[in-house]
Formats: sequence, C-alpha cells, structure tokens
Amino acid sequence: MAEAISSRQEKYNDVAARYARQLHQLRRSARQKLEPVEHSPEQLFPPQNRAGLGVFLEYQRMGNTPVSDQLEARAKNLGIEFEHLGITVGTVIHNIDLKQTLNVELTRFVRDTLLERKVIFFRDQSLSEDQQVAFGAEFGDLDVFPFGKSGDNPYILEIRHGKDSPGTENGWHTDVTWMERPSLGSIAQCVEVPPVGGDTLFSDSHAAYLGLDPSLQERIEHLHGINDYRIFLAGRLPDDFVESIKSDLPFGVSHPLLRTHPETGKTALYIHGGFLRHDSLYDVRTGETLPKSESQAIVSQLLAQHHRPEYVCRFQWQPGSVAFWDNRAVQHYAASDYYPHERLLRRVTVSGDKPFYDPSYQPSAL
Ligand code: SIN
Repeated sequence: MAEAISSRQEKYNDVAARYARQLHQLRRSARQKLEPVEHSPEQLFPPQNRAGLGVFLEYQRMGNTPVSDQLEARAKNLGIEFEHLGITVGTVIHNIDLKQTLNVELTRFVRDTLLERKVIFFRDQSLSEDQQVAFGAEFGDLDVFPFGKSGDNPYILEIRHGKDSPGTENGWHTDVTWMERPSLGSIAQCVEVPPVGGDTLFSDSHAAYLGLDPSLQERIEHLHGINDYRIFLAGRLPDDFVESIKSDLPFGVSHPLLRTHPETGKTALYIHGGFLRHDSLYDVRTGETLPKSESQAIVSQLLAQHHRPEYVCRFQWQPGSVAFWDNRAVQHYAASDYYPHERLLRRVTVSGDKPFYDPSYQPSAL
C-alpha cells in the first residue's frame, strides 16, 4: 500500500516539476519580449493587499532606516544601544537607568526616540511607583485614570488579571479616546508575568493608514465619530453615581478618524472600536451623519486594519520591563492568553492634546 502511494506521489511530482519548468520558460521568454519596465511599489503590491506597501511607504518616509542618522549618532555618544523589533515600529533601548533622574539631554533623547519609533522599551528597570511617576512627569503633565484601581501613588493605574479576572485589553486600541484630550503616551511597567504569554502587541498607525485603499483614505478624510466611556460603567454602578460622573467628565466626545501627529505631522488612523459608537460617523464639514449601515461598514473595515501582522511588533514582558508608547502613533493589544495565571502591569499616562486632522500642518519642532 505504502509503495502504491509513493509511486502515485512520484508521478505527481514528475508532472509538477514539468509544469514548473514550462512555466518558468514561458515567463522568461515573455519578459524577454517586453521592453524593460520600472514598476513603482504601488504597482508591485496588489491593490487588495497593501499591508506591505503601507509599511514600505512609512519606512521610505523614515529615510529607509529604522532611526535617523542623527539619532543613531546621539545614541552612540550616550553609550546607548538600539534593538529594533520592526522596521518602522518598536525599539528596545539598552543602557539607560530610568531610576536616575534623567538629565535634559537624556530626556530629549528618549522623547525623540519615541517620536521616531512610536513605542520604546527598557529592560530590568524595576521602578518603584514614585520612580515610574517621576519618569512619566519628565514628559509632561500626567492624567489620573478614573475607571480603574490606582496604586499607592494616584497616578498609577494597576492592570491586574488572574483567576477571577481574565485579561480584557485584547482589542486593538489607543488609550482613553473617551477623553477630549486623550493621553499623549502611556508608560507601563511589568510587575508580574505569567509563566508563558501575556505579551503586548503594538501596531503602527501611520503604516496602517498608508496601507489603506486610497478610495477609503479619501472617504474617511473628513469623518469624525463619537467616543464615550460607557463601556467602563456598563450595568455595574448605581444610576446616581453614573449621573455624577457624567456631570464631571464629558460624555461622548468627537474625534477625527484620521489624526495628524502634532509633533511629526504624519497622519495616523485613529480609532478605538470599544469607545467609538459605530453608527456615529459624520462629515465634519457639513455635520451630516452617515447612514447607519455605511458608518458601521466603514468602522468594521478600519478596525480590521491594525490587525495585519505587517504593522505589528510584539513585546515579551519580564518583571521590571518598561514600555512607553505614543498613543498618537500606535495602537496596542494585550494578548489574553495566560488565564488562570496572574499578570500585573502598572501604568502612568502623560497628558495629551485635542486630536485634529490637517494634512498641511507643519510641526514647528521639525
Ligand atoms: C493597556 O491597554 O493599556 C494595557 C496594556 C497591557 O496590559 O499590556
């Protein structure tokens, strides 16, 4: 029996090899008959599969190098090494001790690396809560998070999961889009990791925008949607408490689907499927709301975008690891693949500004 299968396999392989030779020959002679043509990257990537093109276009804009020559030179002078996780997104920075108060040069260096790489990581830091808050405060004011458990320091949010509470941050998102001025960046330190798993993935929102079909890019250019935080309140709290929250924290804020990064001027796809009301899209020029089905269809298309692995880098935590991500340039996803084990992260968030879209905007710092 085994012999019969193997002779059938042999016959199939002979035929397959013959076709492969013929096809190769046909393609070669077809190419030889044609004038040599230069194809642009837009022509080389199939229109229905532009993820690789999105990454290429973002990388090209970065000068076809993970970091600029200037930043590389500054790193060398400071004795710092980069370990890049993706060509356009994510870098582990080695040889910085975040427990020390950073001098002006180092703070500027960290910020510039964040702007170029969108998310940066540090190993073996083991910061106390106060040290983590002090590090965050080097980059601006901090936002207290009103819907979660704080640490001893009120600026710390504890993100703890285990036997009674599986991980729930496993949807692509950028933090706190229910705020009028969503936090610029988030700084998380890992305190406890499961034996395996519990990684966080980061997806490049600039490459994700560039990888969209041009007709969709154009369709969403002036669309805004309404974001609100009801997800945090759903069914669990007394009505009068919800009423009092509503009177203090604006309920339902409008943000553009495309966001101009205020420091780099680049356009990002800006959407949080958990907070955005999927039927709320409207044209900001006319105030006209889209038909419900069109609004929902656009949102579903956009929500699929950050999932593409081409845009993504993945970070494996160890106790003491720190991640600092730019909420204006990446989305993140915490893999919930470790239940019933424990995982604890502590997060601080740096205050941001109101999202806007203006393709002609020129950032002053560049
Ligand atoms: C978050 O969504 O900010 C949490 C990220 C994480 O738990 O890895």
